[in-house]
Amino acid sequence: MKIEKNKILTSLNTFKIKEYCEEFIKIEDKKELLNVDFTDDFLILGGGSNLLITKRLKQVIFLQTKGIKIISETSDDMIIKVEAGEEWDHFVKYSVDKNLYGAENLSFIPGTVGAAPIQNIGAYGAEAKDIIQDVEFFNITTKQFEVFENKKCNFEYRSSIFKYELKNKIIITSVTFKLSKLKKLNLQYGGLTQYFGEKKNITSIDVRDAVIAIRETKLPNTDIIGNSGSFFKNAIVPEQKLCELKAKYPNIPFFKAAGGFKIPTAWLIEKAGLKGFKHGNAGVYNKHALILVNHGGATAQEILYLSDYVENKVFELFGVRINKEVNIV
Ligand code: EPU
Repeated sequence: MKIEKNKILTSLNTFKIKEYCEEFIKIEDKKELLNVDFTDDFLILGGGSNLLITKRLKQVIFLQTKGIKIISETSDDMIIKVEAGEEWDHFVKYSVDKNLYGAENLSFIPGTVGAAPIQNIGAYGAEAKDIIQDVEFFNITTKQFEVFENKKCNFEYRSSIFKYELKNKIIITSVTFKLSKLKKLNLQYGGLTQYFGEKKNITSIDVRDAVIAIRETKLPNTDIIGNSGSFFKNAIVPEQKLCELKAKYPNIPFFKAAGGFKIPTAWLIEKAGLKGFKHGNAGVYNKHALILVNHGGATAQEILYLSDYVENKVFELFGVRINKEVNIV
């Protein structure tokens, strides 16, 4: 365990917000968690890729535990346990290099493995919940390590028990995945279908390459332009609302989803004329309207002001309330 005082966090959050924390605790072995003196206001930091820091923080626990281990295998599957501080994409690459199936659609998502279950990361028709077998965590109150199997994690679209009920009560320490040795492709997402066209004999490595190529055209590189991926969740509306919107906007994209119909929030924002819109040094990304970006030196307040502005404009125009996806601290 390494403790630093008054640590600057700019390079540790992908939005590149310049903020400090009073106490910064780096953990390289999960057993060190037993010795942490938790304050009543702490933040667990992994890749800092789904985070907007709005104030000076009291205590940051920086989880850097590493390790990928094969737990067991059959002729069909392989069970792999990954420590929370591993980079998510390192794990995805490891899995496709072993010719496994299940993680490839989730290639190139920034952040750590420990963060993945919290908001049930998803992309290109796949979600982390589809391959998670169980999640191990440290319970801050009891100081015990516990394991929740997939069903107990209450996974939903960009949500889980860890994001709400267990927030600030536990620290995810490792995730165990079940990946398939048998070829199981998930190419239903439009962008992938188009990418492959008539191509045959597609492997998980090909899917990974395709996803990386598609992501690079739409999502800003956090090393160049600060951002935290999708700032908002996609909107879920009831059928009646969808019909109302369809009558006014016949080309509105929508998908059937749990709890109603999913409408891409990026479409709503673009239709509201806000793609590329700027407020101070903060902006709506000009290549993808779901992403807010730091054009350089933006404050969290500028980003929050912009997000409120976008939310209100979308509500005024469409009567749809959109919600933030990013963790605001
Ligand atoms: N669209 C627009 N304008 C834009 C961008 C998109 O109108 O500027 C519309 C288009 O109709 C497009 C649709 O939105 O077909 C969907 O866009 P896209 O496929 O890029 O996906 P998304 O729904 O905007 C979600 C995830 C992304 C993930 C992509 C790809 C959420 C909140 N976001 O975005 O995840 O990469 O699907 O599967 O569900 C993230 O969570 O940080 C993230 C990047």
